[in-house]
Amino acid sequence: MRCSFLENNTDKKKVIFSGIQPSGNLTLGNYLGAIKNWVSLQDQYDCYYCVVDLHAITVKQQPKDLRSRTLEVLAIYIASGIAPDKNTLFIQSHVPAHSEASWLLNCSTYMGELSRMTQFKDKSKKFGESIGVGLFTYPILMASDILLYNTDLVPVGQDQKQHLELARDLAARFNSTYSDTFTIPDPYIAKVGAKIMDLQDPTKKMSKSEENPNSYILIMDPPEVIRKKISRAVTDSIGVVNYTDEQPGVKNLINIICAIKNTTPEEVVQSYLGKGYADLKKDTAEIIIEELAPVQERVKSLLSDKKYLEEIYKNGALKANYVANKTLRKMQKKIGLIPR
Ligand code: AMP
Ligand code: TRP
Repeated sequence: MRCSFLENNTDKKKVIFSGIQPSGNLTLGNYLGAIKNWVSLQDQYDCYYCVVDLHAITVKQQPKDLRSRTLEVLAIYIASGIAPDKNTLFIQSHVPAHSEASWLLNCSTYMGELSRMTQFKDKSKKFGESIGVGLFTYPILMASDILLYNTDLVPVGQDQKQHLELARDLAARFNSTYSDTFTIPDPYIAKVGAKIMDLQDPTKKMSKSEENPNSYILIMDPPEVIRKKISRAVTDSIGVVNYTDEQPGVKNLINIICAIKNTTPEEVVQSYLGKGYADLKKDTAEIIIEELAPVQERVKSLLSDKKYLEEIYKNGALKANYVANKTLRKMQKKIGLIPR
Protein backbone atom coordinates (compact mmCIF):
# COMPACT_ATOMS: atom_id res chain seq x y z
CA MET A 1 0.00 0.00 0.00
CA ARG A 2 1.25 3.48 -0.81
CA CYS A 3 1.71 5.57 2.32
CA SER A 4 0.70 8.99 1.07
CA PHE A 5 1.12 10.43 4.57
CA LEU A 6 4.85 9.79 4.35
CA GLU A 7 4.99 12.16 1.41
CA ASN A 8 2.99 14.81 3.19
CA ASN A 9 5.03 15.39 6.26
CA THR A 10 6.29 18.75 5.07
CA ASP A 11 2.71 19.89 5.44
CA LYS A 12 2.87 22.07 8.55
CA LYS A 13 -0.78 22.40 9.43
CA LYS A 14 -1.60 22.48 13.13
CA VAL A 15 -2.74 19.19 14.57
CA ILE A 16 -6.17 18.43 16.00
CA PHE A 17 -7.08 15.31 17.95
CA SER A 18 -10.45 14.29 19.32
CA GLY A 19 -12.44 11.19 20.07
CA ILE A 20 -15.79 9.81 21.18
CA GLN A 21 -16.41 6.65 23.17
CA PRO A 22 -18.53 3.95 21.57
CA SER A 23 -20.10 3.33 24.96
CA GLY A 24 -23.69 4.05 24.01
CA ASN A 25 -25.66 5.51 21.18
CA LEU A 26 -24.45 8.98 20.30
CA THR A 27 -26.65 11.91 21.26
CA LEU A 28 -27.43 15.30 19.83
CA GLY A 29 -24.98 16.56 22.49
CA ASN A 30 -22.15 14.57 20.89
CA TYR A 31 -23.21 15.80 17.48
CA LEU A 32 -23.49 19.51 18.30
CA GLY A 33 -20.80 19.64 21.00
CA ALA A 34 -18.21 17.63 19.10
CA ILE A 35 -18.76 16.21 15.62
CA LYS A 36 -20.33 19.25 13.94
CA ASN A 37 -17.38 21.37 15.04
CA TRP A 38 -14.89 18.79 13.81
CA VAL A 39 -16.37 19.02 10.35
CA SER A 40 -15.70 22.74 10.22
CA LEU A 41 -12.07 22.28 11.27
CA GLN A 42 -11.02 19.67 8.75
CA ASP A 43 -9.80 22.04 6.04
CA GLN A 44 -7.52 24.16 8.19
CA TYR A 45 -5.97 21.45 10.35
CA ASP A 46 -4.33 18.04 10.23
CA CYS A 47 -7.08 16.17 12.08
CA TYR A 48 -7.07 12.84 13.91
CA TYR A 49 -10.55 11.66 14.83
CA CYS A 50 -10.55 8.51 16.85
CA VAL A 51 -13.18 6.07 18.09
CA VAL A 52 -11.94 5.57 21.65
CA ASP A 53 -12.94 1.97 22.29
CA LEU A 54 -10.40 1.51 25.11
CA HIS A 55 -12.09 4.35 26.99
CA ALA A 56 -15.47 2.69 26.49
CA ILE A 57 -14.38 -0.47 28.33
CA THR A 58 -13.82 1.48 31.55
CA VAL A 59 -17.45 0.51 32.10
CA LYS A 60 -18.94 -2.88 31.34
CA GLN A 61 -19.75 -3.44 27.66
CA GLN A 62 -21.41 -6.29 25.82
CA PRO A 63 -18.76 -7.42 23.28
CA LYS A 64 -21.31 -7.61 20.47
CA ASP A 65 -22.66 -4.12 21.17
CA LEU A 66 -19.17 -2.68 21.52
CA ARG A 67 -18.26 -4.01 18.08
CA SER A 68 -21.34 -2.65 16.38
CA ARG A 69 -21.17 0.71 18.15
CA THR A 70 -17.52 1.18 17.26
CA LEU A 71 -18.38 0.85 13.58
CA GLU A 72 -21.47 3.00 14.01
CA VAL A 73 -19.47 5.83 15.57
CA LEU A 74 -17.01 5.68 12.67
CA ALA A 75 -19.95 5.73 10.23
CA ILE A 76 -21.45 8.73 12.04
CA TYR A 77 -18.16 10.63 11.73
CA ILE A 78 -18.12 10.06 7.99
CA ALA A 79 -21.87 10.60 7.51
CA SER A 80 -21.64 13.93 9.36
CA GLY A 81 -19.16 15.21 6.82
CA ILE A 82 -15.73 14.23 8.14
CA ALA A 83 -13.96 13.26 4.92
CA PRO A 84 -11.86 10.09 5.25
CA ASP A 85 -9.38 11.31 2.65
CA LYS A 86 -8.69 14.60 4.45
CA ASN A 87 -8.57 13.31 8.03
CA THR A 88 -7.08 10.40 9.91
CA LEU A 89 -10.02 8.29 11.12
CA PHE A 90 -9.09 5.33 13.27
CA ILE A 91 -9.95 3.04 16.16
CA GLN A 92 -7.96 3.62 19.35
CA SER A 93 -7.18 -0.04 20.09
CA HIS A 94 -5.61 -0.38 16.62
CA VAL A 95 -2.75 1.82 17.78
CA PRO A 96 -1.05 0.01 20.69
CA ALA A 97 1.11 3.07 21.40
CA HIS A 98 -1.87 4.61 23.22
CA SER A 99 -1.84 1.86 25.85
CA GLU A 100 1.94 1.84 26.10
CA ALA A 101 2.29 5.61 26.46
CA SER A 102 -0.49 5.47 28.99
CA TRP A 103 1.59 3.24 31.27
CA LEU A 104 4.59 5.53 30.96
CA LEU A 105 2.49 8.56 31.90
CA ASN A 106 0.80 6.60 34.72
CA CYS A 107 4.16 6.51 36.42
CA SER A 108 4.37 10.29 36.59
CA THR A 109 0.78 11.08 37.54
CA TYR A 110 -0.26 11.83 41.12
CA MET A 111 -3.18 10.16 42.92
CA GLY A 112 -4.26 13.64 44.00
CA GLU A 113 -4.53 14.90 40.44
CA LEU A 114 -6.78 12.04 39.39
CA SER A 115 -8.87 12.18 42.57
CA ARG A 116 -9.76 15.79 41.78
CA MET A 117 -11.36 14.94 38.43
CA THR A 118 -15.04 15.86 38.66
CA GLN A 119 -16.10 13.11 36.29
CA PHE A 120 -14.40 10.51 38.50
CA LYS A 121 -15.90 12.03 41.66
CA ASP A 122 -19.38 11.88 40.14
CA LYS A 123 -18.93 8.31 39.00
CA SER A 124 -17.49 7.15 42.28
CA LYS A 125 -20.59 8.44 44.04
CA LYS A 126 -22.56 6.05 41.90
CA PHE A 127 -20.28 3.00 42.14
CA GLY A 128 -18.70 3.44 45.60
CA GLU A 129 -15.81 1.12 46.48
CA SER A 130 -16.42 -1.07 43.46
CA ILE A 131 -15.60 1.68 40.99
CA GLY A 132 -13.23 0.37 38.31
CA VAL A 133 -9.58 1.45 38.35
CA GLY A 134 -9.94 2.21 34.63
CA LEU A 135 -12.33 5.04 35.46
CA PHE A 136 -9.68 6.51 37.75
CA THR A 137 -6.81 6.33 35.28
CA TYR A 138 -8.93 7.12 32.22
CA PRO A 139 -7.70 10.74 31.93
CA ILE A 140 -4.12 9.42 31.54
CA LEU A 141 -5.15 7.36 28.53
CA MET A 142 -6.86 10.46 27.16
CA ALA A 143 -3.64 12.44 27.69
CA SER A 144 -1.73 9.76 25.78
CA ASP A 145 -4.22 9.92 22.90
CA ILE A 146 -3.60 13.63 22.60
CA LEU A 147 0.13 13.86 23.28
CA LEU A 148 1.24 11.09 20.92
CA TYR A 149 0.24 13.18 17.91
CA ASN A 150 1.84 16.43 19.07
CA THR A 151 -1.63 17.86 19.11
CA ASP A 152 -2.08 21.63 19.13
CA LEU A 153 -5.84 21.77 19.61
CA VAL A 154 -8.43 19.47 21.14
CA PRO A 155 -12.04 20.24 20.22
CA VAL A 156 -14.24 18.95 23.05
CA GLY A 157 -17.34 19.87 24.99
CA GLN A 158 -17.07 21.82 28.23
CA ASP A 159 -17.15 18.64 30.33
CA GLN A 160 -13.73 17.53 29.06
CA LYS A 161 -11.87 20.71 29.91
CA GLN A 162 -10.54 19.39 33.20
CA HIS A 163 -9.20 16.23 31.54
CA LEU A 164 -7.44 18.37 29.00
CA GLU A 165 -5.81 20.40 31.74
CA LEU A 166 -4.38 17.18 33.12
CA ALA A 167 -2.99 16.36 29.67
CA ARG A 168 -1.31 19.76 29.62
CA ASP A 169 0.16 19.23 33.10
CA LEU A 170 1.46 15.77 32.23
CA ALA A 171 3.03 17.08 29.02
CA ALA A 172 4.74 19.95 30.83
CA ARG A 173 5.96 17.60 33.59
CA PHE A 174 7.47 15.17 31.08
CA ASN A 175 9.09 18.03 29.15
CA SER A 176 10.67 19.46 32.27
CA THR A 177 11.74 16.09 33.75
CA TYR A 178 13.44 14.96 30.52
CA SER A 179 13.54 17.49 27.70
CA ASP A 180 11.16 19.05 25.25
CA THR A 181 9.05 16.18 23.89
CA PHE A 182 5.37 17.10 23.77
CA THR A 183 3.44 20.01 22.33
CA ILE A 184 1.22 21.48 25.05
CA PRO A 185 -2.32 21.11 23.69
CA ASP A 186 -4.99 23.79 23.95
CA PRO A 187 -8.69 23.11 24.37
CA TYR A 188 -10.97 24.26 21.59
CA ILE A 189 -14.44 24.76 22.99
CA ALA A 190 -17.01 26.15 20.60
CA LYS A 191 -19.32 28.80 22.05
CA VAL A 192 -22.55 27.26 20.83
CA GLY A 193 -23.27 23.60 21.33
CA ALA A 194 -20.59 23.26 24.00
CA LYS A 195 -23.13 22.04 26.48
CA ILE A 196 -26.43 20.62 25.31
CA MET A 197 -28.58 19.89 28.35
CA ASP A 198 -30.73 16.96 29.43
CA LEU A 199 -34.30 17.45 28.15
CA GLN A 200 -35.83 16.23 31.40
CA ASP A 201 -33.43 18.03 33.73
CA PRO A 202 -31.95 21.00 31.89
CA THR A 203 -29.52 21.69 34.72
CA LYS A 204 -27.35 18.72 33.73
CA LYS A 205 -25.73 17.80 30.43
CA MET A 206 -27.42 15.55 27.89
CA SER A 207 -25.76 12.17 28.24
CA LYS A 208 -26.02 8.85 26.44
CA SER A 209 -25.74 7.02 29.75
CA GLU A 210 -28.93 8.54 31.18
CA GLU A 211 -31.62 5.98 32.01
CA ASN A 212 -34.70 7.88 30.85
CA PRO A 213 -34.63 7.99 27.00
CA ASN A 214 -36.73 11.17 27.07
CA SER A 215 -33.65 12.90 28.46
CA TYR A 216 -31.76 12.79 25.20
CA ILE A 217 -32.12 12.84 21.44
CA LEU A 218 -30.03 10.21 19.69
CA ILE A 219 -28.39 10.97 16.38
CA MET A 220 -30.22 7.92 15.01
CA ASP A 221 -33.65 8.68 16.54
CA PRO A 222 -36.42 8.57 13.90
CA PRO A 223 -38.42 11.79 13.28
CA GLU A 224 -41.48 10.74 15.28
CA VAL A 225 -39.30 9.94 18.31
CA ILE A 226 -37.56 13.32 18.05
CA ARG A 227 -40.95 15.08 17.90
CA LYS A 228 -42.19 13.18 20.93
CA LYS A 229 -39.06 13.78 23.01
CA ILE A 230 -38.91 17.50 22.24
CA SER A 231 -42.62 17.94 22.94
CA ARG A 232 -42.00 16.40 26.38
CA ALA A 233 -38.92 18.52 27.11
CA VAL A 234 -39.16 20.20 30.51
CA THR A 235 -39.62 23.98 30.32
CA ASP A 236 -41.11 26.28 33.00
CA SER A 237 -44.27 28.15 33.87
CA ILE A 238 -43.09 31.61 32.79
CA GLY A 239 -44.51 31.11 29.30
CA VAL A 240 -42.35 33.65 27.44
CA VAL A 241 -39.51 32.60 25.12
CA ASN A 242 -36.43 34.18 26.68
CA TYR A 243 -32.76 33.29 26.84
CA THR A 244 -31.99 33.35 30.57
CA ASP A 245 -30.61 31.06 33.28
CA GLU A 246 -33.99 31.18 35.02
CA GLN A 247 -35.42 29.28 32.04
CA PRO A 248 -32.83 26.53 31.48
CA GLY A 249 -35.17 24.30 29.47
CA VAL A 250 -36.08 27.06 27.02
CA LYS A 251 -32.46 28.22 26.92
CA ASN A 252 -31.41 24.71 25.94
CA LEU A 253 -33.88 24.58 23.04
CA ILE A 254 -32.63 27.96 21.85
CA ASN A 255 -29.03 26.73 22.09
CA ILE A 256 -29.91 23.71 19.98
CA ILE A 257 -31.45 25.93 17.31
CA CYS A 258 -28.43 28.27 17.36
CA ALA A 259 -25.95 25.40 17.06
CA ILE A 260 -27.77 23.94 14.08
CA LYS A 261 -28.78 27.12 12.31
CA ASN A 262 -25.73 29.18 13.17
CA THR A 263 -27.85 32.00 14.52
CA THR A 264 -27.70 33.95 17.79
CA PRO A 265 -29.99 33.54 20.82
CA GLU A 266 -31.14 37.16 20.34
CA GLU A 267 -32.34 36.41 16.82
CA VAL A 268 -34.21 33.33 17.99
CA VAL A 269 -35.87 35.17 20.90
CA GLN A 270 -36.85 37.96 18.52
CA SER A 271 -38.58 35.52 16.17
CA TYR A 272 -40.73 34.14 19.02
CA LEU A 273 -42.14 37.45 20.22
CA GLY A 274 -45.78 36.83 20.96
CA LYS A 275 -45.41 33.07 20.48
CA GLY A 276 -45.31 30.31 23.10
CA TYR A 277 -43.37 27.18 24.00
CA ALA A 278 -45.50 24.95 21.77
CA ASP A 279 -44.27 26.82 18.68
CA LEU A 280 -40.69 26.80 19.92
CA LYS A 281 -40.81 23.05 20.52
CA LYS A 282 -42.44 22.26 17.22
CA ASP A 283 -39.82 24.25 15.32
CA THR A 284 -36.93 22.86 17.35
CA ALA A 285 -38.02 19.31 16.56
CA GLU A 286 -38.27 20.04 12.83
CA ILE A 287 -34.88 21.77 12.78
CA ILE A 288 -33.26 18.75 14.45
CA ILE A 289 -35.00 16.32 12.09
CA GLU A 290 -33.91 18.30 9.05
CA GLU A 291 -30.32 18.27 10.28
CA LEU A 292 -30.17 14.60 11.26
CA ALA A 293 -32.20 12.95 8.48
CA PRO A 294 -29.44 13.07 5.83
CA VAL A 295 -26.85 11.93 8.40
CA GLN A 296 -29.03 8.95 9.32
CA GLU A 297 -29.45 7.97 5.65
CA ARG A 298 -25.69 8.00 5.10
CA VAL A 299 -24.97 6.08 8.32
CA LYS A 300 -27.31 3.30 7.22
CA SER A 301 -25.73 3.08 3.81
CA LEU A 302 -22.17 3.12 5.24
CA LEU A 303 -23.01 0.35 7.71
CA SER A 304 -24.17 -1.80 4.85
CA ASP A 305 -20.68 -1.57 3.32
CA LYS A 306 -18.38 -2.99 6.01
CA LYS A 307 -15.52 -3.41 3.49
CA TYR A 308 -15.44 0.32 2.87
CA LEU A 309 -15.42 1.09 6.60
CA GLU A 310 -12.65 -1.45 7.10
CA GLU A 311 -10.54 0.19 4.42
CA ILE A 312 -10.95 3.54 6.16
CA TYR A 313 -10.04 2.41 9.66
CA LYS A 314 -7.13 0.32 8.42
CA ASN A 315 -5.68 3.22 6.44
CA GLY A 316 -6.24 5.51 9.41
CA ALA A 317 -4.44 3.12 11.75
CA LEU A 318 -1.51 2.91 9.37
CA LYS A 319 -0.89 6.62 9.56
CA ALA A 320 -1.77 6.91 13.25
CA ASN A 321 0.63 4.08 14.16
CA TYR A 322 3.42 5.71 12.24
CA VAL A 323 3.05 9.07 14.00
CA ALA A 324 2.26 7.67 17.46
CA ASN A 325 5.15 5.21 17.43
CA LYS A 326 7.61 7.97 16.67
CA THR A 327 6.52 9.85 19.79
CA LEU A 328 6.39 6.68 21.88
CA ARG A 329 9.97 5.76 20.91
CA LYS A 330 11.12 9.23 21.97
CA MET A 331 9.38 8.83 25.34
CA GLN A 332 10.88 5.37 25.93
CA LYS A 333 14.37 6.55 25.04
CA LYS A 334 14.23 9.60 27.29
CA ILE A 335 12.93 7.55 30.19
CA GLY A 336 15.88 5.16 29.82
CA LEU A 337 14.26 2.10 28.29
CA ILE A 338 16.58 0.21 25.94
CA PRO A 339 15.57 0.63 22.28
CA ARG A 340 14.05 -2.51 20.71
P1 AMP B 1 -18.58 11.25 25.33
O1 AMP B 1 -20.00 11.01 24.93
O2 AMP B 1 -18.43 11.48 26.78
O3 AMP B 1 -17.63 10.27 24.73
O4 AMP B 1 -18.22 12.65 24.67
C1 AMP B 1 -17.72 12.81 23.36
C2 AMP B 1 -17.65 14.26 23.00
O5 AMP B 1 -18.97 14.83 22.95
C3 AMP B 1 -16.87 15.12 23.98
O6 AMP B 1 -16.17 16.11 23.26
C4 AMP B 1 -17.93 15.74 24.83
O7 AMP B 1 -17.51 16.95 25.41
C5 AMP B 1 -19.04 15.95 23.81
N1 AMP B 1 -20.35 15.94 24.49
C6 AMP B 1 -20.92 14.90 25.11
N2 AMP B 1 -22.12 15.25 25.62
C7 AMP B 1 -22.29 16.56 25.31
C8 AMP B 1 -23.33 17.52 25.55
N3 AMP B 1 -24.42 17.21 26.23
N4 AMP B 1 -23.16 18.76 25.08
C9 AMP B 1 -22.06 19.10 24.38
N5 AMP B 1 -21.04 18.27 24.12
C10 AMP B 1 -21.15 17.01 24.57
N1 TRP C 1 -12.81 11.37 27.38
C1 TRP C 1 -13.49 11.87 26.23
C2 TRP C 1 -15.01 11.89 26.50
O1 TRP C 1 -15.51 11.16 27.27
C3 TRP C 1 -13.23 11.04 25.01
C4 TRP C 1 -11.80 11.10 24.65
C5 TRP C 1 -10.88 10.13 24.82
C6 TRP C 1 -11.13 12.19 24.04
N2 TRP C 1 -9.67 10.53 24.36
C7 TRP C 1 -9.79 11.78 23.88
C8 TRP C 1 -11.53 13.46 23.64
C9 TRP C 1 -8.83 12.62 23.33
C10 TRP C 1 -10.56 14.31 23.07
C11 TRP C 1 -9.23 13.88 22.94
O2 TRP C 1 -15.67 12.66 25.87
